[in-house]
Amino acid sequence: MIRLPGLIDPHVHVREPGQTHKEDWDSATQAALAGGFTTILAMPNTKPPIFDNSTFELALNAAKEKAHCDYGQYLGAGPHNADLVSSLAPKAAGLKMYLDSTFGELRLDDMTLWMPHFEKYPNDFPIVLHSESRTMAAGILFAALYDRPVHIAHVSLKEEILLIKAAKEEGIKVTCEVCPHHMFLTQPQPPPVLRTPSPKSKGFGGGLGGGHSEVRPRLATQKDVDALWENLDVIDCFATDHAPHTLEEKDSENPPPGFPGLETALPLWLTAVDDRRLTVDDIISKMYLNPKKIFNLPDQPETWIEVDENAEYEIKAANQFTRCGWTPFEGWKVKGRVTRVVLRGREAFKDGKVLAEKGFGRDVRE
Ligand code: DOR
Ligand code: ZN
Repeated sequence: MIRLPGLIDPHVHVREPGQTHKEDWDSATQAALAGGFTTILAMPNTKPPIFDNSTFELALNAAKEKAHCDYGQYLGAGPHNADLVSSLAPKAAGLKMYLDSTFGELRLDDMTLWMPHFEKYPNDFPIVLHSESRTMAAGILFAALYDRPVHIAHVSLKEEILLIKAAKEEGIKVTCEVCPHHMFLTQPQPPPVLRTPSPKSKGFGGGLGGGHSEVRPRLATQKDVDALWENLDVIDCFATDHAPHTLEEKDSENPPPGFPGLETALPLWLTAVDDRRLTVDDIISKMYLNPKKIFNLPDQPETWIEVDENAEYEIKAANQFTRCGWTPFEGWKVKGRVTRVVLRGREAFKDGKVLAEKGFGRDVRE
């Protein structure tokens, strides 16, 4: 058994308000505990998006009533809300700026719409960018021009990680995260190909074809995946970008992008540790120390997770707490299971059961 700190996931789509058939604060935070996370930060691309006082209250009230683990809520940057969101900054996980198109309504196409947010959002609260490829280069230029930190979500390409590396070397205040799906999967080829997390892992069922492989940023090539693994030292955080959509939606004509990830992330990273591609210290830095610092999160006294690092098993959607009913890692053989979570002195999860009740979770900004 190994003990780790309560993990932090800075990138979760909880789906409440508005799309609770996919997930809500109850199911998302149970999935978080089952995955070893004691804090999650919730993205604002809900329905309605979280972009003003009343929508922020909607999300915070639902979280307060239902969360089983600790949480923060992001605000979304819109075309006309820079003053408003900067006044709410102390209560928010951070400001999320969607600079490329993805699921939901929040998007800032025009760079003049980025400027007021960079001018006004307080420097000591995080700005997180959804920015891909050349848009990322523009976002990093903004960090340099305004001399303020930015955190880049879900890096997936070789050109992106090399750009971030170069920016860090110049002293630009940029941090970044990667997600398991961009480190363990490549874009499906015809016929669809799954990459195993390790040469040892065999026997996964099915493929990741059609709508199931839709995610933003898209799954990339082996060259990109290799570049991420080669630049682990440039990567500050391992996030999940837990983005649940139901199986029915993923199988539809117009499949929404996104994968669930809360319950599969740690087992995948631990399997990589078993394969000597990663160390337990990497996990502690990228899933606890670095996100705690970047997002300025409070201590959780008497909080830890227990992991059976020798438990070998197959990932199965049927065993998950997420409401979406599937996982892109179905049938993958992994090594490492979360057996117990203690959160603020309270046994919150044990042997597959969530024990912390609804409402036990606290807002990290309160
Ligand atoms: O694949 C994605 N799904 N990428 C995003 O940026 C949004 C997310 C979602 O909310 O479903
Ligand atoms: Zn996301």
